[in-house]
Amino acid sequence: MATLILNASEVLTLAGPDGPRAGKDRGSLGLLRDGAVLVDPGKIVAAGPKPVVMAHPAAKGAKMLSAEGRVLLPGFVDSHTHPVFAAPRLDDFEARVSGKSYAEIAQRGGGIVSTVNGVRGSKEADLVAGLRVRALDFVAAGTTTIEGKSGYGLDLDNELKLLRAMRTASARGPLEIVATFLGAHAVPPEFKGRKDEFVERVCEVMIPKVGAEKLASFVDLFCEKGYFDLGDLDRVAAAGTKAGLKLKVHSEQLSRMGSLGAALKHGAVTADHLDCVEEDDLPALAISKTVACLVPGSNYFLGKPYPPARRFLDTGAAVALATDFNPGTCPCHDMRMILSLACTQMKMTVAEAIVSATINGAHAAGLGATHGSLEPGKVADIACFDAEDHRELAYWFGAPKTRWVMKRGEVVWKAA
Ligand code: NIG
Ligand code: FE
Repeated sequence: MATLILNASEVLTLAGPDGPRAGKDRGSLGLLRDGAVLVDPGKIVAAGPKPVVMAHPAAKGAKMLSAEGRVLLPGFVDSHTHPVFAAPRLDDFEARVSGKSYAEIAQRGGGIVSTVNGVRGSKEADLVAGLRVRALDFVAAGTTTIEGKSGYGLDLDNELKLLRAMRTASARGPLEIVATFLGAHAVPPEFKGRKDEFVERVCEVMIPKVGAEKLASFVDLFCEKGYFDLGDLDRVAAAGTKAGLKLKVHSEQLSRMGSLGAALKHGAVTADHLDCVEEDDLPALAISKTVACLVPGSNYFLGKPYPPARRFLDTGAAVALATDFNPGTCPCHDMRMILSLACTQMKMTVAEAIVSATINGAHAAGLGATHGSLEPGKVADIACFDAEDHRELAYWFGAPKTRWVMKRGEVVWKAA
């Protein structure tokens, strides 16, 4: 049976042209004050002015759902997360707040490799169970889809274990997970001093296997001093293309390596972080199809300067916002916190931030044709927030505001 959602103070449809929104469309919310949404069964049938939606043949006999004067918008699409791990990294946290750097913490046995040890010692079923608990946290915060990366296994079996855990959790729902293979996240201890051999294994063994088993949509790598370099990026991109995986790059995060230019050369879907980009990098990004995926939660947590979001937007680049949820650099799953950081710290407008967290997030996750806006034919992923005005989404911070969340037409989460 169809569902007709009425009585919203605002419906943000995010309707607009195909492709990631940039330039004049970077803040187009498709805001309706007398809007309604018709869903049947798991897809949007109509979203628009109430009289138009009510006149749709499928509206006859539809079940009514009242938004009770609140704001409705597409569920957030969080396009950069590392969601599968065994335990938080509290020692790293304590060391960092006492002044230790990311590199120093890694040298002392913390960092990515400590999470790798936890994953290697965990059973797949336990990782799935942990992920499903986190998945509900995401949904309760209004996120209906995430992109999730492997990268805490760093050998074939453990990387496959992480990717399978995401596939299982996604199939069980309600959070949908698009998987990314991040084998080149760090050089594992057993390959210490032999980075090139490890990259060869990633490219010759792991990527072909991940592609053949269709366990991921994307391949990603951490292009950074002490991790992987531009030559590795070329090799991983080529192996990914051969295996049918689209490219994402952890780019220019802690230092400027030139990885943004390389990501554009390879037609990456996203270049992520981009904290250390320079003015000269911007024109090529602006004319490319690559989305700049910014993760200000990690800047906040690491106490690092934020990327120049305003320059990206003002020069015409498409921007997505994501959490970077992970146990080391951003233990935050809440996209509203990210909206708050984007507005207060990076001077994005609320409208730009919402576009970046919904339709542009969907494009960044490779789902722009089916997710991220309330348009006929798209999945009925809708979040309702305790707010009368959409600007409240970025204004109130530090406390939940979600009223209910719909995934594929079903209300899967409701505030008590
Ligand atoms: O996106 N930069 C590399 N990867 C993650 C951090 C992962 C970790 O520290 O566990 C990031 O910040
Ligand atoms: Fe990351």
